[in-house]
Amino acid sequence: MRKKIMNSLVYQIWPRSFQDSNHDGIGDINGIRSRLDYLASLGVDMIWLSPVFTSPDVDFGYDISDYRDINPVLGTMEDFDLLIQEAKDRGIGIMMDLVANHTSDQHEWFKKAMEDKKSPYRDYYLFRKGKNGKEPNNWLGLFGGSAWRKVEGDEYVLTLWAPQQIDLNWRNPKVRHEIYEIMHFWLKKGIKGFRMDVINAIGKHPDFPDKNPGKKGYQFADDLIVSRPEVDDYLKEMHEEVLSKYDGLYLGEGMLMTKEAAKRFCGETTNELDLMFQFELALIDCGPLGKFDFRKLYRWSIPEFKKIYIDWQLDAQKNHYWIANYLSNHDQQRAVSHYGDDKKYHKESAKALITSILFARGTPFLYQGEEIGMTDLAFEREEWQDFEAKNIYGQLQSMMHVPAFLAEKIVKRKTRDNARTPVQWSDNAYAGFSTVKPWIKLNPNYQKINVEAQEKDPNSILNFTRRANLLRKSKDLFTFGIFEPILQDHREILGFIRKDDNEAYLVLINLTNKPSTLELKEEWCGETILQNVYNPQPLVKKMVFMPFEARVVKLSQRI
Ligand code: BGC
Repeated sequence: MRKKIMNSLVYQIWPRSFQDSNHDGIGDINGIRSRLDYLASLGVDMIWLSPVFTSPDVDFGYDISDYRDINPVLGTMEDFDLLIQEAKDRGIGIMMDLVANHTSDQHEWFKKAMEDKKSPYRDYYLFRKGKNGKEPNNWLGLFGGSAWRKVEGDEYVLTLWAPQQIDLNWRNPKVRHEIYEIMHFWLKKGIKGFRMDVINAIGKHPDFPDKNPGKKGYQFADDLIVSRPEVDDYLKEMHEEVLSKYDGLYLGEGMLMTKEAAKRFCGETTNELDLMFQFELALIDCGPLGKFDFRKLYRWSIPEFKKIYIDWQLDAQKNHYWIANYLSNHDQQRAVSHYGDDKKYHKESAKALITSILFARGTPFLYQGEEIGMTDLAFEREEWQDFEAKNIYGQLQSMMHVPAFLAEKIVKRKTRDNARTPVQWSDNAYAGFSTVKPWIKLNPNYQKINVEAQEKDPNSILNFTRRANLLRKSKDLFTFGIFEPILQDHREILGFIRKDDNEAYLVLINLTNKPSTLELKEEWCGETILQNVYNPQPLVKKMVFMPFEARVVKLSQRI
């Protein structure tokens, strides 16, 4: 395993909302350059940059119209080259977002495919004839509605996400080689890896059969589109032709990631990817259809959280694959609002959650603003910017017969806009993000929650994150060492040991907003070396942990 790169702290930037430099209210690449010292001070080793390629921005960059150029809204290629260099000067690598399952409908390939039915580009996409005056099959699109877009006559093209995001035909070797060439182009420029968007959906069932034939309505085609065997063939080929030639971090993102699929895609000896994201924690409060499936009423429990967390840790360890540990990203609610208490215990819970990310086995990921505990914002319906939110609002009503008031409530809670409010740098006008009104609503709590204020407070979430990451980085065992859960039946406290051949540490996190009683074995007591709240009591056999208290404890002997 390439230890150094796997030990990175990865920080995700969603460029539109990170920092504006040219006074148009939209974040940009030069804005990121101006904050590199800040990122270095946080101990960031790698930036995962959500897409900056040319795009009509229907899905804010996840619909690419030119893979070899920069979105003019975000900057120029010169800006980007400077970003790579200046980040490198600070020991930071840039990881780009490879959106290779689909292109924008504005991409040259799609335009040519549409202009001429005989064009070789026609086979770059998945055009199919309709059936009985309807779509070719009953697959549901991931943003709601049919997965097919009508192009002309009775001809359709597959668009699993927005109708403007057209799925590529990975069965066509030309498509695969185009993508590999694009990857070489950026890696040669000096980027240090890729996060691969919905990479487990690149292989679709070749016959495009109906899902649940005979059932009414569009059906979620899970096994027909996700983690199919051909994905391994494509990733092995990509590894051989591209990834194996550069030293980088190659991360997969995919729907419905199971442990078995993670082992297939990023097992130590599989020669595909380095690591995967899993979504079980992100979807802990949702029904089987995903984020907007409210049938679980968005309820979840600490034992469920612990179980998902521990099961993934143990499975990855036992089966020798590597995972990315995260709680937030540009598609999910803010972690402190989702799993913590963003009011009474804002500071405590934000720190507790960051501890759970940094001390798990695997590579840790933080999302912009998480290091200061940025929170969700209750957007009004007319303020939604996210395509998914707007679309799902209609779909919940028309397909699932949800009344409008409830659909609005559900979308408000889960819209990706929550994660996309501008980073709160200071209490100046527009939070120091821009000098003009930002493109998306700013969270008014920026006057209290901001980087500048937290820089001055030694006990802030920001300074805690720095200390915690320094501690993590001081010992390889926190990233690579053995993970051993303890107190598995405790209903409030997550506890585990991290150890190597010489030393052992204990991590304890009260995940609730109540004091919690702990009973520990003698051998688990030791010296507390990191703590997120003031509790003067040393770690003893029987004690009370404060709400959201988290500690890292050095054990006196290896156990
Ligand atoms: C990305 C989303 C995007 C979707 C389609 C996801 O996994 O994270 O932001 O909308 O892929 O590209």
